[in-house]
Amino acid sequence: MLADWLGTGFNTIAASWGGGSGPATVELVTLDWLRELLGMPEGTEGVMTSGGSLANLTALAAARASAGPGVCYLSDQTHSSIPRALRTLGFPPEHVRVLPSDERLRLPLDALAAAVDADAATGKRPGFVVATAGTTNSGAVDPLPEIADLCRAKGLWFHVDGAYGASAALCDAGRRLLAGIERADSLVLDPHKWLFQPYDLGCVLVSRSGALEQAFRMTPDYLADVTGAVGEVDLRDRGLELTRRARGLKLWLTFRIYGLARMRAAIEHGIAAAEYAQRLVAADERWQVVTPAQLGIVTFGLRGCDYAEHRARADALADEGFAALTSTQLHGRPVLRLCTINPRTSPEDIAATLERLGVRVSRLGEAG
Ligand SMILES: Cc1ncc(COP(=O)(O)O)c(C=O)c1O
Repeated sequence: MLADWLGTGFNTIAASWGGGSGPATVELVTLDWLRELLGMPEGTEGVMTSGGSLANLTALAAARASAGPGVCYLSDQTHSSIPRALRTLGFPPEHVRVLPSDERLRLPLDALAAAVDADAATGKRPGFVVATAGTTNSGAVDPLPEIADLCRAKGLWFHVDGAYGASAALCDAGRRLLAGIERADSLVLDPHKWLFQPYDLGCVLVSRSGALEQAFRMTPDYLADVTGAVGEVDLRDRGLELTRRARGLKLWLTFRIYGLARMRAAIEHGIAAAEYAQRLVAADERWQVVTPAQLGIVTFGLRGCDYAEHRARADALADEGFAALTSTQLHGRPVLRLCTINPRTSPEDIAATLERLGVRVSRLGEAG
């Protein structure tokens, strides 16, 4: 909050090196910390955006500028900002292939490989695969290493939407689940989700050097005075914003003030809280855990209960002002969805939330 306040008060701008090399440096340094924490190769380039939607659009524009037109593969669990970005970028509908997710709500590798081959056989050009590292619905992680292998073998651009889940790579448990994420050609993550930043802050990292500039560089005469020399980065050339605020300082300051260990512990807390919720739900036989706790999200349902009833229970809890959880549908099945990544959420909060939903909670053996 302090960093946003300072940035606003000093009216800082991170558009060009000439206009604000300080804010640009802070942004680039912070992006490079993220790159290192995610295990992406040196030389990976990035830019901060208003959020995951813009970051996905930015990545896909860079992908297409670099790789040319082609078919893009995603799953029915892919976040809706991706099809919207493809639409905005002018991908024709026949170049957007949405594959049904498997029983664990992941992009199925066999179906993906078959679709790529079928398109190639009929003269279409497979171009891009969008994998999700932590789906919005259930926290599921697509099989990243296998998809990375397939992309390499077939010469496809490997985009990972980690807007929700990629930040979990900072801790060991998350890192294991997210293995393969470091092989992305482009990766999106949202520090305004699981790195505890005030809105807005998303970012995109692209391991193919120059791809962002290839998509976004502009060189009109009136910007010649504020065009950087070799080695100086004009961040306006890495995305759609020309005038852009300095978004890097808040994340830089968070890392500097709290340190990696505390951020890691806060992420682990969110992962453990969902696991605790799962144990409580599983102990009441009237309820069913539909997807297990994955990256801080657990989904569950009351047996024999329809969508409206689930929705009504979630609404009642929100109306009461006690907790906000959401409802969704997984392969047509209505569920409640608890996302537990607020580091202030205590085990007691989780238990009390579930109790208010009608789960019979035994506090014996409560986990921290
Ligand atoms: C997986 C995923 N991708 C993209 C987005 C879009 O991010 P934003 O709301 O920051 O634009 C979200 C959530 O909002 C998400 O969960």
